[in-house]
Amino acid sequence: MPRPSFLPAFALFAALIRAEPYNTFDGPGFPACNDVAAVYSPSTVDEMVTIVGDATRNNTPVRASGKGHMWYDTMCSDDPSTIIIRTENVNGISNFSLEEGAIDGSIMIEAGVTFFQLAEYLHERGASVGYTLVNWNITLAGSIAMGAHRSSLREESMVAAGAMELHIIDGSGNLRVVTRDENSDEWLAASTSLGLLGVIARMKFKIYPDFKVYAEQKILPENEVLDGDIYGLIAPYATANFWWWPFLRQFHHRYYDVVPTNASDQEGFQSTFSVTKAEADIALGLLNSGKYSSVPNIAAEELFFALWSFPNFREKSTDQAILTWPVYGWNYDVLIGGLYPGYGTEWDFGLRGFTLELAFPVTQANAVLKRVRKAFDDELLKGKVMTSTYRSGINIKFGKAYFDLLGQVTYDTADGADWSKGAIMFDFPTFKPTVGDGLRYNEPFYHELATALVEEFPCRPHWTKNTREVFQQSKKNLDPEHLARFKAVRESFDPNGIFKSVVGEILELY
Ligand SMILES: Cc1cc2nc3c(=O)[nH]c(=O)nc-3n(C[C@H](O)[C@H](O)[C@H](O)COP(=O)(O)OP(=O)(O)OC[C@H]3O[C@@H](n4cnc5c(N)ncnc54)[C@H](O)[C@@H]3O)c2cc1C
Ligand SMILES: *[C@@H]1O[C@H](CO)[C@@H](O)[C@H](O)[C@H]1NC(C)=O
Ligand SMILES: *[C@@H]1O[C@H](CO)[C@@H](O)[C@H](O)[C@H]1NC(C)=O
Ligand SMILES: *[C@@H]1O[C@H](CO)[C@@H](O)[C@H](O)[C@H]1NC(C)=O
Repeated sequence: MPRPSFLPAFALFAALIRAEPYNTFDGPGFPACNDVAAVYSPSTVDEMVTIVGDATRNNTPVRASGKGHMWYDTMCSDDPSTIIIRTENVNGISNFSLEEGAIDGSIMIEAGVTFFQLAEYLHERGASVGYTLVNWNITLAGSIAMGAHRSSLREESMVAAGAMELHIIDGSGNLRVVTRDENSDEWLAASTSLGLLGVIARMKFKIYPDFKVYAEQKILPENEVLDGDIYGLIAPYATANFWWWPFLRQFHHRYYDVVPTNASDQEGFQSTFSVTKAEADIALGLLNSGKYSSVPNIAAEELFFALWSFPNFREKSTDQAILTWPVYGWNYDVLIGGLYPGYGTEWDFGLRGFTLELAFPVTQANAVLKRVRKAFDDELLKGKVMTSTYRSGINIKFGKAYFDLLGQVTYDTADGADWSKGAIMFDFPTFKPTVGDGLRYNEPFYHELATALVEEFPCRPHWTKNTREVFQQSKKNLDPEHLARFKAVRESFDPNGIFKSVVGEILELY
């Protein structure tokens, strides 16, 4: 790879010059970009402005990256002269403002600020971001760029819903402030920008007084969900979701809501991803043999289901396991949490996966889940037992409607479907074997299922949880007028397309 001519000026930003993949959180073998020229790690917004300005002059493609917590090679375009601006060292928090007795306030955060960093800062000051949450080690800027969200039909749960201003370094190297305004296409594009308008450098974000919540979980037989009032099981709660165990034909129904601060002294702390090496090795052994036969996969689903029926929480003050529902604690600790002291993540110990996430109008929730059930049953008839190969089952999430141009839960779209009641998301994480060709047991099934869902329902892809193939298939479901309006804003922010990505190209925004 030739060294881009402008590089000497940047020695101080510690670029790593290379011609190699830029990986996701899953590491080598899991590229977010197949081939990049350099990765910069600036530590101030001004340095980011300088890097983009120079890239502009050289017409060098640029993508920002937070923690790489995405799947698949869709972050960049396939141009090996692309440079990455890693935002993690640009992580200042300032201008905390929450008046005594006020219902909300605001804070200014930089691109690299993660959910757990912000939560800790706010908790010390008696504040929180409410439900605009995704996961712990992920940046708010990266989440807003890609339209990420929590699971709720009642509360605003798109992370973008908390943004009051987005400060974006555009394709001319200028820092533009885009202020929330539902009547402005600039705002509606910036709200889910796919990183195509430029680098989100900082943002003003909405905060609330801190509060406590409970977490409760029940087990429901499959028919009570498939034939049940799905909306009614989810909408009453501040946040709620299902985890589906298709072999066992059961669901876990998890829900959370506010409690008075004095309701309990418990300080529950959730962890979805903590494992010990020994636990990971057992799972890896079972799931790898499940590449060749469904028998170990069935055993794995039974094991995971049994473990997942207990609270995945510990008491924060003592690090003791919490064994009974409901669990109480501060909102961020209970809703998200993090890693238990001394534990690693699943991916630290070699448990890595593929995923697929599609959103459908919640009014069609029963039909969607029944269609997936039919797909599982069709395999059974062919003698292939399909299971969940993921520790917490198949994740069925929900999203309150939120209007912008490219968000997963937007409404009033040309497909004529009723998205106004919100969306159901089918989020299907699966284990990626580390043996043989690395493909899953009955691999074609996963592709056929995605195709069937995209063909048979109005549905929208999550922007970081799908393959290029799924984006190609599902783009026809997007509103052409929304795409055209987005493209017009993109052309004004980035006339030369330096922030281009594979996703943007598939959507024909270039
Ligand atoms: C364990 C795990 C759990 C997750 N849970 C959820 C969930 O519950 N709900 C959900 O919706 N998603 C979830 N996600 C997906 C995640 O929210 C998104 O992939 C998010 O974009 C990752 O942010 P990041 O900071 O790691 O950014 P990266 O992965 O580094 O980047 C993601 C994309 O955003 C762009 N980008 C990043 N930063 C900026 C910036 N400052 N300006 C412009 N563009 C930028 C990148 O170019 C790239 O295209 C999860 C992911 C993981 C790994
Ligand atoms: C957060 O993610 C980064 C990148 O994947 C990783 O290097 C770091 O160890 C993670 N931090 C925690 C606390 O998990
Ligand atoms: C913080 O607020 C002050 C006063 O309103 C303003 O001048 C300053 O620019 C703000 N800081 C940031 C980082 O936005
Ligand atoms: C919590 O505080 C409220 C208001 O001060 C009080 O009425 C209630 O009895 C308290 N509840 C408990 C469980 O202590």
